[in-house]
Amino acid sequence: MAREYDLKPAPSDGADAVAGGATTINRRQFLRYGFNTAAGVLTASLGVLGFAAILLPPGGGGGGDLAVQFWAKGREDEAWYGAKHLQPMTKADFVAEAAKSATGTAGAAGVWNGVPVVVNYVEHSKYAGTPESNGKARFQFMEGYDETGKYVGHFEDLAEADPRLMPSDDLVMVFGRCTHLCCIPGWQLVSNSFTEDSWTPGGGDDGGTKMFCICHSSRFDPTALEMNTNRNRSNGATFNYAGIRRAGGPAPVGLPLIPIQLNGDVIEGLTDYIDWYTYCD
Ligand code: FES
Repeated sequence: MAREYDLKPAPSDGADAVAGGATTINRRQFLRYGFNTAAGVLTASLGVLGFAAILLPPGGGGGGDLAVQFWAKGREDEAWYGAKHLQPMTKADFVAEAAKSATGTAGAAGVWNGVPVVVNYVEHSKYAGTPESNGKARFQFMEGYDETGKYVGHFEDLAEADPRLMPSDDLVMVFGRCTHLCCIPGWQLVSNSFTEDSWTPGGGDDGGTKMFCICHSSRFDPTALEMNTNRNRSNGATFNYAGIRRAGGPAPVGLPLIPIQLNGDVIEGLTDYIDWYTYCD
């Protein structure tokens, strides 16, 4: 029987819209509605779900398919990975797409273990050490400051303790829920100055190549890796995490990383840091 999850009232009246008046949704409905980023109110209302509870297969802490799949539902004709919907992501897919980019980058929405993710490829190994003025993106390992401006720590503090947090084969994957109201930010979901194919260093809000949340226009820089802190909205617990930087908009902080590995050329996510993905609980 399909597992069902309680749907709490949303800040707006989106809950009824999601489930046609029902107050629970099952995993299939979550997938169907949760990725409908064209309807921001739906994704905002789904943000109150306990996503951490569905990161792993029901009844299991191990097993499960670690492979990340492309998710292009509703965008099959416009996303570069539209024809690959629900196919396993491979590094070769991103390398080929980035070759068409002025910045050496490519990104794609995906699904992993039932939750939305975004994978970004940056030709770091090719362009790190070249002049930043050439506009070629590379990863930046940065200090992090919480929403009050208080210093939290440096990305490398966490990466030294667990090197799997470093980009793997020029790839990073982030949990795809906005830290504002839990919509699903995307890679080039829309065309604007924040998503254009340009790059500037520093993790600021200038330049393009941002992940963009269409609900209230938050921006995230997938090339700027930092340590920051966030909060589980259900129990108030705070936690430090490694993630990509918030560049602008109402989101208080950036998006947490999901460490990855390559299995052959297939991108797999690792389940070590599920506590980092609880802020929408
Ligand atoms: S949910 Fe408001 S900006 Fe993303």
